[in-house]
This record gives sequence, structure tokens and C-alpha cells, in this order.
Amino acid sequence: FYRKAASQPLSTFVLLGPSGSGKTAFLSLVESASLLKSKTPSTTTHTSQTSTSTTVTLPPSVPVFSNRYRSVNDPSLPDAKRNAVKYILRDTPGHGKLRSAQLTQLQAELSSKNKKEASSIRGILFFVDAASLAEGAENLRDYAGYLYDILLVLQKVILTKGKSSAKAGAIIRILVAANKQDLFTALPPGSVKQKLESEIDRIRQTRQKGLLDASAGPEHDEDEDEVLGGDGAGGAFTFQGLEDDIGVKVDVIGGFAKVENEKDDAGATGIRKWEEWIGSCL
Ligand code: GTP
Ligand code: MG
Repeated sequence: FYRKAASQPLSTFVLLGPSGSGKTAFLSLVESASLLKSKTPSTTTHTSQTSTSTTVTLPPSVPVFSNRYRSVNDPSLPDAKRNAVKYILRDTPGHGKLRSAQLTQLQAELSSKNKKEASSIRGILFFVDAASLAEGAENLRDYAGYLYDILLVLQKVILTKGKSSAKAGAIIRILVAANKQDLFTALPPGSVKQKLESEIDRIRQTRQKGLLDASAGPEHDEDEDEVLGGDGAGGAFTFQGLEDDIGVKVDVIGGFAKVENEKDDAGATGIRKWEEWIGSCL
């Protein structure tokens, strides 16, 4: 049993998203809770320049999908062992100039044909600063552009591997973390979702037009997968439409990667729903 557990690589979740969206803040909250609160989360973060992978633990109270038939009160399990699931969080830099490297790495890992190196990436947490979305269209364009590129990578991988593998759940899930909900200026998750969908729709139209213009000559019909699918009812892009198309599910959930006050349980309240989402992927 133990040997089997050891030989299986831990599931990895990749933190992506623009600079300042709270990826490192989230990681440090999860990490400090994993260290049994021996360390208070660092309140100061600074912009990340490299990717770092950290092994963390899901709080025992967060349900895990693969354990769903096991009662939380299962007396056969000692308290500390119950649901003590480990996973890896990979923090990445969000700066615009460092994004294409993230995309390249993601595509390489997900499309690796080598079974031994099969991707252990189970999910992507795409962080957005929901407060800065209220400030202007430029931020929205930036965030939606990055998300579009990530979704396009997934679509390419899936279309190459064949759609059935995606439907079989072999591919990853995406969480859009509408962060900074502690700020009163933050847009609620429903509105973050709407804005991202309509902006991705706009980007899609622009790129489609660009491709049509570029392929005005003959012998061009291989560009189909260069534009993101996901037409919902009425032809506009929706996350639901994307799920119907390529089988990748996108959830938009609000929260905050910040300790509310000193007495707060290591910031557990603000990130709880995201940890529950992670548990549902495991
Ligand atoms: P890069 O490393 O540059 O890609 O940015 P990042 O996504 O890692 O952002 P980081 O975690 O460094 O957070 C940026 C700033 O936002 C920091 O000052 C955090 O303290 C702050 N911050 C992060 N999450 C929250 C939140 O939920 N609420 C509030 N009010 N501030 C937050
Ligand atoms: Mg960072």
C-alpha cells in the first residue's frame, strides 16, 4: 500500500494569472496552514520571477472526490491521517514578458506522449484581481488575453490527443479565482465570469478575422484549431460552450488570499472554496 502510494506522483495544480493577482499570497496561506500553523503567513509578497513548486496538504476537513464514499467520521482512520492529502502547488510569475514561457511549458507537459512522464497536472488556478477589474477595460483585456492563450493551449492538446481523452476526464480542470473579495471594490465572481466571457468572445473575433485575412490566398484550411471554440447559444463564447466543445470545465469562484484579522484561522476562510475545488479534483 505504501509503496503504491509512493510511486504515484502527487497531483499538481498550477497557479497562473497576471502579476499582482495574488498567486503567491494564496500559496503562502496554504503553505503556512500545511506547516500546522507553526509559521504565520508572510504578509509581504513580491513579484515572482521564477516558478516554484511546493508540496502542501489539504486541510482534513476539506472533502476529497476520490474519498467521497468514506465517511468523514470513519472511525478506522486516525484523526491526523484522515484525508491528509498532499498535492503540489506550482507558483508562476505573472509578468507579461514571462507568460509565453509558462504557456510553452504547459503545452509540453500536457502533450507529452511518454506515459512515464504523463502529466500530473490536474488543474489550473487562474487568479484575477477582481478589484482591479472594476478600474478599467485595459486590465480586463490583459486578463482575458492570458486566459484565452491558456485555453487555446488546452484546446490544441485535446484536439491532438482526440476529444475522447478529454471526455474521459484525462484532461485538467480550470478554476478562475476571483480574488480580493475582501475589498469592497471587487467585482463579484458572477460578474467576473461575464466580463471574461464577453472579452474572450471579442478576442476570438479579432483573431478569427486576422486568420481569415492572412489566409486570403489558397491552400489554407489547417487553421481551424488556431481559434478558440466554445460557442454557446447564440454563437457567443461561454465557458459552458467550451466545456461542451472540448470537455474542459471552467469554474469561477470568489475568495481572498489575505488574512482578515489576527485571530483568523490562518486565512482559512478566504481560500476555503478554492481548496474545496482542489479537493473535488483529487
Ligand atoms: P506576480 O508574482 O507578480 O505574478 O504576482 P502574484 O500573483 O504572485 O501576486 P501577489 O501574491 O504577490 O499579490 C500581490 C499583492 O496583492 C500583494 O500585496 C498581496 O498582499 C495582495 N493581495 C493578494 N491577495 C489579496 C486579497 O485577496 N486581498 C487583498 N486585499 N490583497 C491581496
Ligand atoms: Mg507571485
